[in-house]
Amino acid sequence: MDGSHLLALVLAVLAWCAVVGREFTLRHPAWRWYLTGYPLMAARVLLTWRKVAQVNDLTVSYQPTRRVLGELVVRGEALRGLAPRAGLPRPVPGGLQLTVRLRPGQTPAPFLDAADALAHAWRAHAVRVVSPQRGLVVITATAFDPLAEPLDGARESAALLTAVLGVVETGRDWVMDFRRVPHWLIVGATRSGKSTLLARLVSQLAPQPVALVGIDCKGGMELSLFRERFTTLASNRREAVDVLAALVAEVHDRMRACRAAGARSVWELPEEERPVPVVVLVDELAELYLTNGSRADRGEAEQCSTSLLRLAQLGAALGVHLVVAGQRVGSDLGPGVTALRAQLAGRVCHRVNDPGTAEMALGDLNKDAVAVAQSIGTHEQGVAVLAADSGGWVRGRSYLTRPDAAREAAHRHACLAPSLPALQTPVEAGEES
Ligand SMILES: Nc1ncnc2c1ncn2[C@@H]1O[C@H](COP(=O)(O)OP(=O)(O)O)[C@@H](O)[C@H]1O
Ligand SMILES: [Mg+2]
Repeated sequence: MDGSHLLALVLAVLAWCAVVGREFTLRHPAWRWYLTGYPLMAARVLLTWRKVAQVNDLTVSYQPTRRVLGELVVRGEALRGLAPRAGLPRPVPGGLQLTVRLRPGQTPAPFLDAADALAHAWRAHAVRVVSPQRGLVVITATAFDPLAEPLDGARESAALLTAVLGVVETGRDWVMDFRRVPHWLIVGATRSGKSTLLARLVSQLAPQPVALVGIDCKGGMELSLFRERFTTLASNRREAVDVLAALVAEVHDRMRACRAAGARSVWELPEEERPVPVVVLVDELAELYLTNGSRADRGEAEQCSTSLLRLAQLGAALGVHLVVAGQRVGSDLGPGVTALRAQLAGRVCHRVNDPGTAEMALGDLNKDAVAVAQSIGTHEQGVAVLAADSGGWVRGRSYLTRPDAAREAAHRHACLAPSLPALQTPVEAGEES
C-alpha cells in the first residue's frame, strides 16, 4: 500500500470514529463526559499541577531556611518547593477526582484556600476539597453545574419514610430519610422552591403507609391541593392548635404503649402493634407565630409553639416527624422558634433574602454552608444547601414537581390515608367551619 492509500485509510477510519462517537454520545449523554470532557480536563490537571501547587503555596521545601553568606546569616525560603504527590485523576460523573498525599508538615488548609484557583486553572465549574483521612486530600472538580437541569427520575422511593427529592451536586439522589434524620427545617425566600419541595415530598410519601398531616395557615393555598391524601389538614391557626394538640396526645399515647412494652422507640415494638408513622408538614411557619397583639391571638401562637416543640422533642422515637417550611426562623417570631430550630436536625436552605436567615438555618451546623447558601441566585429555584447535624453539607436541586402531578399522586393514593383516632375530631370541626 503506498502513502496516499494509507492516508486515505487513516482519514476514513477517523471519520468513521467521529460519526460513531457522535451517535453514541447522543444516545448515551452520560458517556459524553468520559469520552470527550474527561480526557481534556485530566490532561489540564496533570500539566498544571506543579505550577498551580507552586503558586498557591501547596509545596514544601526541606532545605534549611538559613544560610551563611560571608559573615552574614541569611534567612529565606527555598526557590522551588516539592509539590505534593497527586495520583492520576479519576473520572466521576461530570468531573474528576484527584487524591493528593500530603508531605510531612503539610495541612489541608492551604488546599481548601486554593479551591478557587484550581477551578480557574482547570476550567472547572467548581472545586471541592475534603480531607477524608489524615495525610490525604481529595480534590473533586466538576466541569459543569450538575444542578442546572436535573432530569426528573419520576421514581418512587422504595424504603419506608424515605423520599427521593432531587439530585445533589455529586450526581447522587437527594434522599430525605426520616429514620436517619427525624425532623427537617426548610427555609427560603418567597418563590425559592419551598412549597414545590413539599409537593415532591407529598408525592413521594403518598404511596407509603404513612399518615400525612398538613398545616398551612396561609388559607391552605399550597397544601390543600393534596387534601385527599392527608389524614388531616389545618388551614388556619385555630385548626392548627387543635391538630397539634391532638398530635401531642397521640405522642403521649405512643409513649405509654412503648413503656408498657419495654420498648425505647416504636420501631422496637412488634410489627402488628407498631403505630403508623406520621409526617407533619407545616408550610409558612410564621403564620403560626405572628400575632396582632391581642390576647387570644397570643394564646394561640403560644399553644402552637409549645405543641410543635413538644412534637419535635418527643416525636423522633415515636414515629412522629416534622417538616417545617418558612421564610424566616428568627427569634423575632417568638421565643419558641429558636428552641424548635435546635430540635430540627435536618436543614434545607434555599435562596434567602438576608444573610441572617442563612446563618440561622445553617450557621449552627456549618459556617461554609452559610456562604454557599447566600450565593444561590434568583433563577436557581429549587437549589438548596442541605445539611444535617452530622456536620456535612451538600448543594442539591429538587425535581420540579408541578401541583397537578402532586395532586394526581395524592388522589391516586387517597385510599392509603390512614386514620388516626386522636385526629378525627379536629378534622370534622375544621370542615364544618
Ligand atoms: N426544583 C425546581 N426546579 C425548577 N423550578 C422550580 C423548582 N422549585 C420551584 N421552582 C419554580 O419556582 C416557583 C416558586 O416555587 P415555590 O415552591 O412556590 O416557592 P416558595 O414556596 O418558596 O414561595 C415554582 O412555581 C416553580 O416554577
Ligand atoms: Mg410557598
